[in-house]
Amino acid sequence: MFIQVDSLSKTFISHHQKTKVLNDVSLAIPQGSIYGIIGRSGAGKSTLLRCLNGLERADTGRVFFQKKDLMSLSQKDLRQARHDMGMIFQNFQLLKRRTALENVLLPLEFFKHSQQESLSKARKCLNIVGLSEKEQAYPSQLSGGQAQRVAIARALALETKVLLCDEPTSALDPKTSKDILSLLMTLNQTLGLTIVFITHDLSIVRDICTHVAVMEKGEILESGNVESVFSSPKTALTRDYVQSLFNSRVPQIIKERLSENASSKTSEVAFRLVFSGRNSQKPVISDLAQELGISVSIAGGALDHLGHSTYGTLVITVPHEKETCSQVKSYLEARQINVELLGYLA
Ligand SMILES: Nc1ncnc2c1ncn2[C@@H]1O[C@H](COP(=O)(O)OP(=O)(O)OP(=O)(O)O)[C@@H](O)[C@H]1O
Ligand SMILES: [Mg+2]
Repeated sequence: MFIQVDSLSKTFISHHQKTKVLNDVSLAIPQGSIYGIIGRSGAGKSTLLRCLNGLERADTGRVFFQKKDLMSLSQKDLRQARHDMGMIFQNFQLLKRRTALENVLLPLEFFKHSQQESLSKARKCLNIVGLSEKEQAYPSQLSGGQAQRVAIARALALETKVLLCDEPTSALDPKTSKDILSLLMTLNQTLGLTIVFITHDLSIVRDICTHVAVMEKGEILESGNVESVFSSPKTALTRDYVQSLFNSRVPQIIKERLSENASSKTSEVAFRLVFSGRNSQKPVISDLAQELGISVSIAGGALDHLGHSTYGTLVITVPHEKETCSQVKSYLEARQINVELLGYLA
């Protein structure tokens, strides 16, 4: 494994109070992956990320990078290992008094590369992130997206094999955020860069990550390839995440007509169907209509895809006839679709 985290634990002590921030965390990050780490604020994501490059030392456990045990390396060897890892942050962390080019030169100077070589490497990296024309600009003269590009160039300046990203797009507008994400995907594909990406935004995980780990209270609840984690979430937090990603709103026009109980005026019944990954390729709704001989209307919802799996919700209505309700429910549930009776429509 490219990066292997084994049973990492870390407790912070401040004001005589102990906080266990990492509790027996294990993680396997394959080379070339884009590995998302999600979890609520305070879950320990940033601490874990800092343990990966030795900025933070865990109390117990091991981090292996390219089979080398980071915890047992000498300061000199640790510096070399850090050479292979770049990091970017939400607030860019550029030096204000240095130009874009001088910011990118920083790690090269730190690792004492020759001046000539440093300059050509720094320019090459600025070119990769599409910012050659801004090399003399100061951070205050750059937009957020440009500043993050400089930070990426700086992170790439050494022979970087891993890019550690701590919410690098959360301070950016949606369009700029998309541009940065697509730059990261390009770097992943063209340079074979392995990326570890902390985010609160599950749509980012869906759009760019190959793997994901869900963290809560210092523990990894589940981890693995995105499709398998999302298609069979094992914990309530992951289920919440997946549901929030795939909107489950009932259209207003249906809401207004809904009543809890059937009456003599009831003509239709409304259901909400939740697709959570399996049953993807089959035309379930048309099969339902054909096999039960009923007409099914789709009133709203949104379906989305992750790999070959379908996620999302559909609101459907069917005629209110004797037994239709229970038939529809059992037909869909047999196909692993979660069915909720929303109510009756007059
Ligand atoms: N240097 C420190 N000293 C004491 N406590 C710390 C320190 N760094 C982090 N913590 C505590 O560790 C816990 C986890 O912090 P961490 O920054 O890793 O969370 P996070 O998941 O990155 O949260 P967020 O999503 O808000 O960035 C928090 O309770 C935090 O207060
Ligand atoms: Mg954090």
